[in-house]
Amino acid sequence: MKPDRSLLEKHWSLNPEIIFLNHGSFGATPNRVMEEQNRIRLHLESDPVRFFEREAFESMNQARQVLSEFINANPDGMTFCQNATSGVNTVLRSLILKKGDEIIVPNHSYQACWNAIDFIASRWGVKIVVVDLPFRCDSEEEIIEPLLGAITSKTVLAMIDTVTSPTGLRMPFEKLVREFQSRGVDVLLDAAHGPGIVPMDLSKLDAAWVTGNCHKWLCSPKGSAFLHIREDKKKQTKPLTISHGHSVDLSSQEKFRFEFDWQGTRDPTAILCIPKSIETLESMVQGGFDEIMEHNNSLALKARNLLCESLGTDPPTPDSMISAMATIDLPGTYSGGADIMGDPLHNKLLDEFGIQVPVFPWPHHKMRYFRISAYLYNAIEEYEYLAEILQENI
Ligand SMILES: Cc1ncc(COP(=O)(O)O)c(C=O)c1O
Repeated sequence: MKPDRSLLEKHWSLNPEIIFLNHGSFGATPNRVMEEQNRIRLHLESDPVRFFEREAFESMNQARQVLSEFINANPDGMTFCQNATSGVNTVLRSLILKKGDEIIVPNHSYQACWNAIDFIASRWGVKIVVVDLPFRCDSEEEIIEPLLGAITSKTVLAMIDTVTSPTGLRMPFEKLVREFQSRGVDVLLDAAHGPGIVPMDLSKLDAAWVTGNCHKWLCSPKGSAFLHIREDKKKQTKPLTISHGHSVDLSSQEKFRFEFDWQGTRDPTAILCIPKSIETLESMVQGGFDEIMEHNNSLALKARNLLCESLGTDPPTPDSMISAMATIDLPGTYSGGADIMGDPLHNKLLDEFGIQVPVFPWPHHKMRYFRISAYLYNAIEEYEYLAEILQENI
């Protein structure tokens, strides 16, 4: 018998036939937030000219204010983008580099963002220093030491994750940002899994650039993300799309704002729903996002333990290096790089058992992994069911 989700599932429209254990890839937006997006869309379409001329910028300011308070960021450096990939690209494609400069990237990085580094590296003749980090480790030091050890006099940038995508590792990003930047290396923090999954204090972090998604762990509609640019990096960082703002004669802050807020006609409604998303999620529990993060973290850990036990393996990292996602290895099953038709086990779990969980080869470790996520709507019985099915099918 397929298990039920938690009682909070009533706030979402997830398919009841599916055991949804992959919040991490694209999030999942509650009904009330979708209704708010529809409301704003209808309002926009009632007079699009009035909306864009008189309301859009002010509404974006309000959303920016709420998000900045949520992650303690300076609203003057906060810009919106559609997703973390475009945030990363905005930074990388603004850099003026020289031949021989070095950029550090850990081998747990999200491939699309790593590709963006490859792209600019070949354009400028820059060396990419890929740091091999272990999948299994006993302490943060095993992550921190090799990364800092890769710094040379030519290192100009390190791209660091808050939580890694393939390996679900909660990176010691606070320490890494501090240590890299105190050695003169700017950090681009990839917080695609950032707000709502790990506590974030951008003012304290003081990273040169932080980009993150709201459509994952804040459950905002798809296409809501941010790029926060530290004051001293604002002049050199330009939006991916050059538009009207480029030629206007305004103060530097007004120009910065206009250049990022107006990149041509776009649907801003996902971004405008960020405040509603935070409010909606917080209304589901007593203790706000602290409680949500704690709940999801403890469910992910319980689920990881029972899956590891059932598969006869040990949890690959200490509990402190896990947030609301956990990756588990499937030893002895790696058979090469990604198949464009999807991993056969992933397809089988979905098609035969209705379980939505990513299974994928990770060529950088020559391993095959699966990754679970935990959110308010999940229940431990769903992972027990996955464990049972895995036992019979691998
Ligand atoms: C670490 C990391 N960076 C970047 C991204 C890209 O996010 P998006 O597709 O929203 O641009 C992801 C997506 O899962 C991710 O996990």
